[in-house]
Amino acid sequence: TQQHQKPAQQPHLPTSVSTPSLGRSDSLLLLSEGFVAPVRLKNGGEYRLAEILSRREIPVSPSSGGGNADSSLVMYYVHFEDFNKRLDEWVSADRIDFTGVQPPRVRPPGSGGSVSGGGGIAGGNGMANPVSGERRSVLGAAETGVGATSTAASSVVGVADSVSNSRAGTPDSTASGGPHHHHNHHQQHQHPLLNKKRPYSAICLADSGVDQSEDEASAASAAVVGTASANGGPPLPPPRQTGSMAHNHDDNKVMRMKNIEWIELGRYRIKPWYFSPYPVELTKVACVYLCEFCLKYLKSDTCLRRHLTKCQLRHPPGNEIYRRQNLSFFEIDGRKNKAYSQHLCLLAKLFLDHKTLYYDTDPFLFYVLCETDSVGCHIVGYFSKEKESAEDFNVACILVLPPFQRKGYGKLLIEFSYELSKLEGETGSPEKPLSDLGLISYRAYWSQTLIDALLEIKRSAPNENDPPSVTINDLSERTAIKREDVISTLQHLNLVHYYKGVYVIVLTKEALDAHSRTQGKRRIRIDPKCLQWQGKDWSKRGRW
Ligand code: ACO
Ligand code: ZN
Repeated sequence: TQQHQKPAQQPHLPTSVSTPSLGRSDSLLLLSEGFVAPVRLKNGGEYRLAEILSRREIPVSPSSGGGNADSSLVMYYVHFEDFNKRLDEWVSADRIDFTGVQPPRVRPPGSGGSVSGGGGIAGGNGMANPVSGERRSVLGAAETGVGATSTAASSVVGVADSVSNSRAGTPDSTASGGPHHHHNHHQQHQHPLLNKKRPYSAICLADSGVDQSEDEASAASAAVVGTASANGGPPLPPPRQTGSMAHNHDDNKVMRMKNIEWIELGRYRIKPWYFSPYPVELTKVACVYLCEFCLKYLKSDTCLRRHLTKCQLRHPPGNEIYRRQNLSFFEIDGRKNKAYSQHLCLLAKLFLDHKTLYYDTDPFLFYVLCETDSVGCHIVGYFSKEKESAEDFNVACILVLPPFQRKGYGKLLIEFSYELSKLEGETGSPEKPLSDLGLISYRAYWSQTLIDALLEIKRSAPNENDPPSVTINDLSERTAIKREDVISTLQHLNLVHYYKGVYVIVLTKEALDAHSRTQGKRRIRIDPKCLQWQGKDWSKRGRW
């Protein structure tokens, strides 16, 4: 998290004065887009194959040590094969091994759509996002960390429900298999609401300013144009008609590249991970300044300071529906607070790869988690949720801002989403596809919650030696976790066994040890007593 703290110095564009510049005479070495070459990773001498996504030449004046007046520094924007796009970056030519250059990859049409190999994550990214080694290793670690063998059974719970039936309905995610569930699930449910005639409109940023000057308004409207056409790419296909953000059609070259260098949000300076359709003029500044309360974007520190003297907000708009100690949740209606919702989506897109932002916020609610101090309520993360979901999605997009990641807030947001589902009397599941980090976090949450529920069932059993019966539906109803996710989690943990004609859940020592380890780490929890909320039946309303 160190890197997210404000550095003492302004960040620079990734041009390095210390890198040798290529003169014109070296132009034979110029690589075109699509070529693949070994590129040295940032930290360490290791070379990995990377695809060239873009190239730019920066003129170097003799005074800056570049030699000839007409020499230039060549930078390449590269995507490391088998790594998440988070690692994509501009590299100087000296990091490329030109002896290992390979021609552009030819892929059969449609092959890049959703990749499910090792990682098992439906990418929805087209060719831009091959299954990543990083994902695989991270997932691998998660799997082995929680995975359990069937020996040393210390606790047995019988399953009355037919797992085999459910198994038939659940795509391969058996004990031995990787987590393919979400990928296949996603495939099954592609475009299910296409004929639902949901109103679609590209986010209109022009009307989003709290106190927008004419200049800002025109810059803002450029965002839509800037991403849709200014790059000269083909017109974007219509978005998926469901979900928080439509799928990312990143055949579009511009959208495959990070466009914002840094953002400053409250106390933090954060390096974005992915493209987000901010106004094009903001892609040219070294840092985009966000008001941490209304999330409006500004092109300079001065503009931000001027804005802060006028901005009245000290917490997200909408209702505070949860408060415990210094943590609060606010519920924001995407129709009533369009500007805020759109600003939030723009910010979120910087860290969400597999979604793109061409969507009306009206059909969504946003649940923003804040840490409160004497100054105000500071955003930590959020999730969005469709007001009505035909697929039982209880989360559309979920994000914890990088400075707050890996502290348990992701699980807290997930827990909160299931508490809302419980109050609605429904079971729910996150919208697919999940990102690599989304899958890890959900798996961790599901595993813990289900083992907790099983232990609770076992504790309340009348006879200790007589294993209690439990159905998949019982577990699903207790936890609000959708059946499919209950089954895939039990299978993933390798807890389900077929024994003397019945399915039994065997809580192995390993599973229980792993459970108490993670449970010990999980300090922040949702206290349902602090939640004041009643679900609305949106289907009964004329409009959202
Ligand atoms: N590497 C390995 N494990 C990780 C990582 C990581 N980078 N990040 C989280 N985890 C693990 C944690 O160890 C923990 O597991 P454990 O309890 O078994 O130890 C689990 O994931 C959850 O950790 P949290 O600290 O609760 O999660 P965090 O606050 O980091 O938030 C989130 C997780 C929301 C996915 C965050 O990583 C994020 O915002 N990522 C970018 C956006 C994204 O990908 N969102 C999900 C998209 S899918 C969808 O929107 C439906
Ligand atoms: Zn503001």
